[in-house]
Amino acid sequence: MANGKKIKIAIVGVGNCASSLVQGIEYYKNAKDNEFVPGVMHVNFGGYHIRDLEIVAAFDVNTNKVGKDVAEAIYAEPNNTVVFAQVPKLGVQVSRGPRLDGVNSYTSDLVPVDDKARPVDVVKVLKESGAEAVINYLPVGSQEATEFYAQAAIDAGCGFVNCIPVFIASNPVWAKKFEKAGLPVIGDDIKAQVGATITHRTLVNLFLDRGMKIERTYQLNTGGNTDFLNMLERERLQYKKISKTEAVSSQIEARGQTIAPEDIHVGPSDYVPWQKDNKICFLRIESKHFGDVPMNLELRLSVEDSPNSAGVAIDSIRCLKLALDNKLAGPIVEPAAYFQKHPPKQIEDRTARELVERFIQKYGTAAKSAPRKPKATVAA
Ligand SMILES: NC(=O)c1ccc[n+]([C@@H]2O[C@H](COP(=O)([O-])OP(=O)(O)OC[C@H]3O[C@@H](n4cnc5c(N)ncnc54)[C@H](O)[C@@H]3O)[C@@H](O)[C@H]2O)c1
Repeated sequence: MANGKKIKIAIVGVGNCASSLVQGIEYYKNAKDNEFVPGVMHVNFGGYHIRDLEIVAAFDVNTNKVGKDVAEAIYAEPNNTVVFAQVPKLGVQVSRGPRLDGVNSYTSDLVPVDDKARPVDVVKVLKESGAEAVINYLPVGSQEATEFYAQAAIDAGCGFVNCIPVFIASNPVWAKKFEKAGLPVIGDDIKAQVGATITHRTLVNLFLDRGMKIERTYQLNTGGNTDFLNMLERERLQYKKISKTEAVSSQIEARGQTIAPEDIHVGPSDYVPWQKDNKICFLRIESKHFGDVPMNLELRLSVEDSPNSAGVAIDSIRCLKLALDNKLAGPIVEPAAYFQKHPPKQIEDRTARELVERFIQKYGTAAKSAPRKPKATVAA
């Protein structure tokens, strides 16, 4: 049985991913505890149901969204993901956050920002809303803005789930800040349910399991959402490329093999407006089998980008809540390894899932009383 307690969350960046998350909470609000819901590990996750996620604050800079109820803002332009649920008003308005480096020259035509409007005091809004967890959905490359909201989360006493490839949980300096504040952090760069990264990792592991060497590989991605438009600014991609490449190369290195940097190419490749939130991934693996005879694999994957990670976000938030309930501090290593592309420690997916199941058993409703002092869970 779910314990009926709420998880009060604040959303940073009310874009397509936030839209899928908020729609999903509504769509699955009546799911039975033992029901199969695609994309989440369990309906009842350590005592918390999907409907227990309660949005208590949200921040954006787009004038189409600021001041609106979150349930209206999630459908405002340029959001263009699939609408699978009509969310009734939540009674929570989107607050104007500081712009910082969140909007660039590529996205500014589609994202109207009133630079004369004064940003709110984010820490004050977080405190007054009673938020316990902040989820970061800013555009790729928002280094300053992400650091600003991570610090605001710490100052307001909130845990942090970082869904974007700016390194916080996997950056020892930020990991330490959360640990010192006695707060948990899960990141970085959320994995989709079945997306390009997990497909690439799985196929690479299949090759390795069957005694093959990965000679060369690429993963090219196109899409028509603002995430892809924003990523046309190549300078913003430094950490996205590291995160997506390491998610694959780590699997090869874990088997004692190596792949030269010039033989692996993983990244977002182009913006095709009519694709909207549909993402297409083109993937190739070149190898040799017995007798050094060459072979290769080509794959084309088509997914709706934002719903694809919303279930994973719901589980990440519920793990963060279990960490808060049990006073764990710093990076929460096992869930990060399963849910995020660039965790503090990479763990093979099946093992990581098993470790998350154990985490739920240990820290869920059935867990014994919480330890008194915050304890770090940073991997050695
Ligand atoms: N879709 C997935 O499966 C997936 C996977 C991994 C990572 N991500 C990452 O999640 C992030 C969100 O993706 P999305 O598709 O929702 O992007 P999006 O562009 O639709 O949403 C970003 C939102 O942030 C807002 N914003 C910009 N600057 C801001 C600021 N300073 N303060 C507050 N809000 C600000 C924008 O107005 C927009 O509403 C991206 O970084 C993306 O790469 C998504």
